[in-house]
Amino acid sequence: MAGRTGLPCTGAAAPAGTLRAMCGIVGYTGRPGAAAELREAGSHSALDVVMEGLRRLEYRGYDSAGVAVLTEDGVQSRKKSGKLANLAAVLEEDPLPVAATGIGHTRWATHGGPTDANAHPHLADGGRLALIHNGIIENFAEIKQELLQEGAEFLSETDTEVAAVLLGSLYRGAAEGDLRRAMQLACQRLEGAFTLLAVHADSPGMVVAARRNSPLVVGLGENENFLGSDVSGFIDFTRRAVELGQDQIVTITPETMDITDFFGEPAEGTEFEVNWDAKAAEKGGYGSFMEKEINDQPQAVGDTLLGRSDSEGRLTLDELRVDPEDLKSINKIMVLACGTSAYAGQVAKYTIEHWCRIPVEVELSHEFRYRDPIVDANTLIVAISQSGETMDTLMAVRYAKEQGAKVLAICNTHGSTIPRESDAVLYTHAGPEIAVASTKAFLAQITAAYLLGLYLAQLRGNKFQGEIKDILADLAAIPGKIQQVLDASGQVRELAEMMADTRSVLFLGRHVGFPIAMEGALKLKELAYIHAEGFAAGELKHGPIALIEEGQPVFVVVPSPRGRNSLHAKVVSNIQEIRARGARTIVIAEEGDDAVKDYAEHVFYVPEAAPLLAPLLTVVPLQIFACALATAKGYDVDQPRNLAKSVTVE
Ligand code: G6P
Repeated sequence: MAGRTGLPCTGAAAPAGTLRAMCGIVGYTGRPGAAAELREAGSHSALDVVMEGLRRLEYRGYDSAGVAVLTEDGVQSRKKSGKLANLAAVLEEDPLPVAATGIGHTRWATHGGPTDANAHPHLADGGRLALIHNGIIENFAEIKQELLQEGAEFLSETDTEVAAVLLGSLYRGAAEGDLRRAMQLACQRLEGAFTLLAVHADSPGMVVAARRNSPLVVGLGENENFLGSDVSGFIDFTRRAVELGQDQIVTITPETMDITDFFGEPAEGTEFEVNWDAKAAEKGGYGSFMEKEINDQPQAVGDTLLGRSDSEGRLTLDELRVDPEDLKSINKIMVLACGTSAYAGQVAKYTIEHWCRIPVEVELSHEFRYRDPIVDANTLIVAISQSGETMDTLMAVRYAKEQGAKVLAICNTHGSTIPRESDAVLYTHAGPEIAVASTKAFLAQITAAYLLGLYLAQLRGNKFQGEIKDILADLAAIPGKIQQVLDASGQVRELAEMMADTRSVLFLGRHVGFPIAMEGALKLKELAYIHAEGFAAGELKHGPIALIEEGQPVFVVVPSPRGRNSLHAKVVSNIQEIRARGARTIVIAEEGDDAVKDYAEHVFYVPEAAPLLAPLLTVVPLQIFACALATAKGYDVDQPRNLAKSVTVE
C-alpha cells in the first residue's frame, strides 16, 4: 500500500473521493460488548460512532437521516425525514440496543422526495439486510421491473431500494449467502454512480461496501474499522485512512479490511494519514465551502446529466411528469429567477431559442409580477432556483399559475416549496450548496436548461435524434473539461492575489458570454465587495467605454474563433478599442486561439467546446478569480456580508 501524507487544505488538488457531495454515509464495526465494557476497552458503540460521523457529514445532505445496527435479534433500524436532529429525537424516544456494527446515512434526495419512507437504510431479504447509498443508479427502472416480475415489493420510490432488493435476491440466489459475493454481482449489474454500504444479520461484525463514481474512504482503528463518504465521517476516532480506487469493494470487520474489484479480484487502496482538523475535513480539505463547491463542479454537471437519456440518445426526462402534449402546444417560455439563477436563465434563452425555435424571455422574478406580464395557458414558465425557497420567485410562480401558465421548476433542493407548487420539476443534482455565492448550482442549472432545450427539441421535432445525441455527447465531455480548467487555475489565483487592491473591474461578453460576464461581475461584488460591472461587449461603444481609463482591469469572455457565425472578430475589435484607451485586458479564450494573445495582458485558456456549451467552462476562471481575490483580502467567502443563501422575504 502506498503511503501518503500532507493532504492539501487549500487549492485545486484534493484527494480523489472527497470532491463529491450528495448524501453522507458512515459505517462502523468494532469488538462486541456492553457499552461500559466497550468504553473500558477503548472501543465504541456503533450508534455513537455512526451518529457522530453523520453529524460531521450533514453538510452533504439534510433531507432525512437513518441508521441500522446489527444486534443479536438481527438488523434494527430507525430513519426520519428532515435534519439529523429529527433522527436523534426518534432514537431518544425509541432507542436502539447497544451494538458493535452499524451504518448510517444522511440524505440529499435525488430519486423520490425527502420522506420517511424514502430515507435510508432500505431493508431487504425479509428485513435481514440493510443498505445505504450515495449516488444515482441509472438503470434502476429496468432492474425494478425485473424484480417486480419476480414478486418483489417496494416501500419507497428510491433507486436505492431497488439496489437493496437486488442485493437481497442475489444473496439468497447466486451468491449462496455470501454478502461480499452478492455485492460483487450487484455491482456488475448496476450502472451510474454509487457508494453502497450493506450489513446482513447473518454476518455480524461485517460491513461490505462498494464504490463507483462516488466517494468512499476507510478508517483504520485498533480492533475497529470505519467507512465514510470522506474522512470527516470518522475523524473523531482515527486519522489513519485508506482511499479506495474506482469500482472497488471493501469488506471490514473489527480486525480486517479486504479490498477487491467488482469481480472478486484482489485490489489495493492507498493509505494516508489525515492531517486536517475536523472542521476542514467537512470541507473536504479545502479552505472554504466555496472552494470545495467550485471543485465539485465536474461532479455537479456529470450528476445532472446522469440517467437522463437512453442508449440511442433519446432524452427520457421521466421525472418531469408533465403531459408532452402540453409541452408541444406552448408558444412562449418565460424564465423567472433571481441572482445567479437568472444568469443561468439567460444562457437558457440563447440555447432554447436556437434549438427549439420558441421565443424565450428571461425576467427577474421580482420585476415580472408587478408589470402585468402577458402569460396564458400556452406559456411555459421555467422557474430556476437553487434553494427552491426564494420568495420573489415563489410569488412569481404563484402569479403565473393564476394566469393559467404551466410552471416547470429547475431546482437543486428536493421537497422545497417552488418545485412543490410547480406543475413539473427538473432537479439539478449538484448536492448541497453551502457557500452563499452560487457556483456548482449555477453550472448544474445551465446543464438542466440544456437538457430541457434538447427535450423540447426532441418532442417538437426541431432536431434530428442524431443531432441531439451529438450534443449529449458534447455535454458528457464537459465535466472532464471543467476539471482541466480547475487543474490549470493556479495562474488565475496568482493574478487575483496580485489584484487584491483593485477598486473596480469590468467584464465584457457577447452572446452566451454576456450572462457569463455579468455572473463574473456579480461574484466579485458578492465576495470581494469590489465595484464590478458586466456589459454586453457590443454595447461598449454606446456608453460604458467612457469608464475606461489607464490601468482599468477588464475581463473579456472571448467566443470561439471556430464556426460560421463566430463573433470572435467582433469581440477582438472590442478588446482593441479598450486597450487603445489604456485598459488592462484579461482574456478568457478557447485553447488554440493565439490571435487574442497580442491584445491581452493575461490570457486564461479553456478547452474547446461547442459555442452554446462554452459557459460551463468560461465562468470557472471568473469564479476562481473572485474567490481567490476575496480570500486574499481576508474576507469570509462562504458568508459574505449582508447576504443570505436563501432569501425568503420579498
Ligand atoms: C441569493 C443568493 C444568490 C442566489 C439567489 C437566488 O441572492 O445569495 O447566490 O443566486 O439568492 O437563489 P435561488 O435559491 O432562488 O437560486
